[in-house]
Amino acid sequence: MNYQLLAKQLQSMFTDESDKIANMANMSAFIYQEMPELNWVGFYIVRDNNLVLGPFQGKIACVRIPWGKGVCGSAAQEQQSILVKNVHEFPGHIACDSASNSELVVPVIKNGKTVAVFDLDSPVLDRFTEADRAGIESLIQIFLSHTDLD
Ligand code: SME
Repeated sequence: MNYQLLAKQLQSMFTDESDKIANMANMSAFIYQEMPELNWVGFYIVRDNNLVLGPFQGKIACVRIPWGKGVCGSAAQEQQSILVKNVHEFPGHIACDSASNSELVVPVIKNGKTVAVFDLDSPVLDRFTEADRAGIESLIQIFLSHTDLD
């Protein structure tokens, strides 16, 4: 993936818009469109120590994930991205879509607090590389710098 190009496109997509829901929705649609071999992309938003489903692309998904649970809850708690080559080997993985085989979750951290996570799922085993992890982390930094988050 050409993350530098994706970063430029994302920058211009966010120009003049800082609404959290709008930017989460367009970022999910953009990544779903641009990255091959994905079956689900979206945000979970931190609310009262739970992760609540936010804007996404893909099949209907689990609505609430308890703090620290699953790949999303773990990334939120540990405040670091988690790359899972095979979700069936991740203890506590929450299966929302049985088609998913690998996953990448990047936390969205503002002023030291996790405010959301960005979750990417693939039907392909071992779909995500360390370059994808670094690339998606850099796109999340662009999201953070353009978006009002409470
Ligand atoms: N698999 C995730 C749950 C969210 S769905 O994949 C959309 C997890 O274990 O946290």
